[in-house]
Amino acid sequence: MGRKPNDSDAGRCAFLILLLIGLVSCSLVYMCLSVALRPSNVSLDSRSFSAIDEVKGGWDEGLGLEEGECCKGIDNLELWGSAVKWGSEFKFNSSGDCCRACKTMCSGGDGPCLCDTWVFCGNRESCGPKFGECWLKKQKDTLAPDSQDSGEKVIWTSGLIFGKGEGIVGLETEYGILHIKLFPDCAPHSVAYILELLGLHHCAGCQFYRAESRGNSWDSEGNHIKDAPLGPPFALIQGTLEAQGTTFKNIPTEVCPTLRRGSVAWVGSGPEFFISLANHEEWKRAYTVFGSVLPEDMEIAEKIAQLPTKLDVWNNINVSVLENSIPLWFRRMKTSHGDLNLNRNANSDSNGS
Ligand SMILES: *[C@@H]1O[C@H](CO)[C@@H](O)[C@H](O)[C@H]1NC(C)=O
Ligand SMILES: *[C@@H]1O[C@H](CO)[C@@H](O)[C@H](O)[C@H]1NC(C)=O
Repeated sequence: MGRKPNDSDAGRCAFLILLLIGLVSCSLVYMCLSVALRPSNVSLDSRSFSAIDEVKGGWDEGLGLEEGECCKGIDNLELWGSAVKWGSEFKFNSSGDCCRACKTMCSGGDGPCLCDTWVFCGNRESCGPKFGECWLKKQKDTLAPDSQDSGEKVIWTSGLIFGKGEGIVGLETEYGILHIKLFPDCAPHSVAYILELLGLHHCAGCQFYRAESRGNSWDSEGNHIKDAPLGPPFALIQGTLEAQGTTFKNIPTEVCPTLRRGSVAWVGSGPEFFISLANHEEWKRAYTVFGSVLPEDMEIAEKIAQLPTKLDVWNNINVSVLENSIPLWFRRMKTSHGDLNLNRNANSDSNGS
């Protein structure tokens, strides 16, 4: 039954259209401004952190989980793949339990994981009889997971698990390839974006543009030297992962652990990102970490940090901007399982004490 439009409706309509035009032009101006101002809103300085110290990354508080033990997925997403465990007879009360059930199947030595995908129905109302179903699956290609459906009406929550030697992508630069182990269980939205970039086969516009050494403040293992200043230089290389021809959607804040040497993290909600050359306890837990550079590749990051830079000032902070920015792109690595020395980068390894 339609309602006949009357005068006041037409007036309201005109007002709404004006409002819409206003909003659109505002956001256009904002977009232009934020492009122009990009360097100055990513200062990454310890002094600017107090405001965001309170940002909690979403560690599973109260569950006794430690760093490296997160088990997160993406809501309203149904990943496909062949089932290794049927959810109709395999039920849990939380997505975390379903995720851990998948991880358990993955912890047997060096072989590929028997389970690399979990799909859980966690909303009692919309799931109805399917509530609690936990489907464990296996992808043909873990770096290009098969998505059945996504969007608000999708009742499922899905996550990926990368075992030892899996989920490692190459970040290629002219100075060498940085192998990065991705953390889909801690930062599922971030990793989904990286896998999207990987699938593009190009990353036009992606580059490092800032490089700061460890100076005399952090040792070669990334430990802070007693009483040394906390920068500048700030011990990081920074860049952007916004590929031309794609629309970047802000990444939500995900798990924000303490930054370690090798941590790969977003500045805010991306697409600016950085690789930390040091253990930055002083930066609190303010940045979503979505991967870690394998230790043996850190010398490439160190090499980049030594390249010629010029001084710039962002928000009153002295920063070192590369004289020549360094193009970068993601590529697949051919690795056989277990032949990479993952050390502490295999983030499911921490047993705690
Ligand atoms: C889920 O929670 C209900 C009620 O809290 C409990 O009775 C049931 O045993 C739990 N099921 C599992 C699989 O933990
Ligand atoms: C920033 O650089 C200027 C010029 O080199 C220098 O005088 C100033 O002390 C620096 N500030 C900090 C905080 O390092």
